[in-house]
Amino acid sequence: MQAINGDYRGKDILATSQFSRQDISMLFAEADRLRVKLERGEVQTSLSGKIVANLFYEPSTRTASSFMAAAQRLGGGIIPINDVHYSSVSKGENLADTVRTLEQYCDVIILRHNTKGQATLAAEAAHKPVINAGDGAGEHPTQALLDLYTILRECGRLDGLTVTMVGDLKYGRTVHSLSRLLTMYGAKLNYVSPESLKMPSQLIYEFAAKGLQQHETVDLESVLLTTDVLYVTRIQKERFDRDRDYLSVKGTYVITPSQMNLAKKSMILMHPLPRVDEIDPAVDDDPRAVYFWQVENGMYVRAALLNLVLGRDGPQK
Ligand code: NCD
Repeated sequence: MQAINGDYRGKDILATSQFSRQDISMLFAEADRLRVKLERGEVQTSLSGKIVANLFYEPSTRTASSFMAAAQRLGGGIIPINDVHYSSVSKGENLADTVRTLEQYCDVIILRHNTKGQATLAAEAAHKPVINAGDGAGEHPTQALLDLYTILRECGRLDGLTVTMVGDLKYGRTVHSLSRLLTMYGAKLNYVSPESLKMPSQLIYEFAAKGLQQHETVDLESVLLTTDVLYVTRIQKERFDRDRDYLSVKGTYVITPSQMNLAKKSMILMHPLPRVDEIDPAVDDDPRAVYFWQVENGMYVRAALLNLVLGRDGPQK
């Protein structure tokens, strides 16, 4: 897996460990530039002649649509395989063959898979860049980047924030990816989850070695008052072997208006979505609820990423 190191052209985007602060600043500058142009309604053509293939082995609304919207807003084309059951995957084709086929038609492959590590496997098989759009309980780097971009836009800074992660910290790939990015910004992380869905200890050790301050608790209210960013996640039902294990933790944490009353006025409430029951819809009108701004930012950040990866001299690896 290659570090970005100031040059995105032709690179796979597989994990947040590829990014430095400078790489992130570069991406956000491009996202800002595109956002201003797209908000003004200026027609963009930077991806004219390029084709993006979406290859999704798991359901998606936001990630799939935002990559499609981004490609089309920049003048590119899209091959949308948003349900592999309607592709030759249902005939038994393996991932490497599917990827090597698709790359004959496109310039970059956006892959969502239900198994950790498959994005890396696909990238090894492909000659064109592969962007990991979520691999099982592994990583979801583009979600983490849009989350960080949202934090910067809403809080005005990234350094020294107290971020409280709530919900399914075991299987939640967005939590894993965002936490890894936050290690570069001197954050303090609180982990609030049911006992059975704690942050994996391997990640806690990795982040501790980078000097990240971390605190685990089951009591959300004990950390609410000092939280700058409350990042709530869905219990990842599809990762459980038995329904009764899911049901035993479902609904453990639900953010309500009364809890929002305990939080700072400047706190922001985030969620990668989809939400099931973790945030009471009565909270949606609270100006601190920014989850739908995350959705919007996702398109700008993914557009920026496509522009940088498919830059002039790309996209061959
Ligand atoms: C997340 C995912 O797929 O990991 N969704 C998303 O991409 N916005 C979160 C989730 O499914 O809970």
